[in-house]
Amino acid sequence: MSEIQPFIEEPEVVFPNSTIFDLYKKVPIYITDGMIKINNNIILSDINIQIPLGKVIGIVGKNGSGKTSLLNYIMDRSSEEVIISSKVVFSSYMQFDYDFDSEKSLLQYCQMESEYSLDSIAIILKNLGFTETHLITPVNKLSGGESTKLALALTFIRKSNFIILDEPTNFLDVFAIKGLEKIISSYPGTVLVSSHDRIFMDNIADIIYSLEQGKIFQIK
Ligand SMILES: Nc1ncnc2c1ncn2[C@@H]1O[C@H](COP(=O)(O)OP(=O)(O)OP(=O)(O)O)[C@@H](O)[C@H]1O
Ligand SMILES: [Mg+2]
Repeated sequence: MSEIQPFIEEPEVVFPNSTIFDLYKKVPIYITDGMIKINNNIILSDINIQIPLGKVIGIVGKNGSGKTSLLNYIMDRSSEEVIISSKVVFSSYMQFDYDFDSEKSLLQYCQMESEYSLDSIAIILKNLGFTETHLITPVNKLSGGESTKLALALTFIRKSNFIILDEPTNFLDVFAIKGLEKIISSYPGTVLVSSHDRIFMDNIADIIYSLEQGKIFQIK
């Protein structure tokens, strides 16, 4: 008879207090009548959105609907219709094949990139499904999915108050997705995230925008 392995609860994620989260604007980013154009093609028009402080904002839409373009448009800080508070510090995870070229252990590598304590970093890594053995594994030996999880962990442990995630669940197993949901919910800053995974999105997002036929609609 097969036995179902109990899911071992990892310690709660607690981000250390930091003044970086003290933004004074209630809406650190807003876009008024924005438009995204690539090679004379209009990808999105009439973009009117507000991104309130401390919320999780989701972006959904079919392949090619403009999700990645919208995230880049915001992060670029180069369009005058995108108003970004000067105190916003972005950290981002984009769709990419992550491969780490270092002999450093997972924990050492993360420590190099973060001001957080080893304990705080280890809790985040464990919530993403890394074991004690993984913590001492050289990062150049990590599997594809593990490298993706490292890239996600780095996004959260680097200095930031505004996180952008482009389809973060794509290579993750169900346990890592649950862990990521916990990490996002504990993060004291603002999160803008695109995803095709509606269950994940419904679990984490306070506000959801849908991109359809070149326009943006608020659906939650
Ligand atoms: N540099 C570029 N040159 C030409 N067209 C582009 C460029 N970047 C994006 N596009 C086009 O813009 C549209 C939106 O692309 P985008 O990558 O933002 O979609 P997406 O919603 O992120 O899709 P996916 O779900 O596949 O990630 C697509 O039709 C794409 O082909
Ligand atoms: Mg995309």
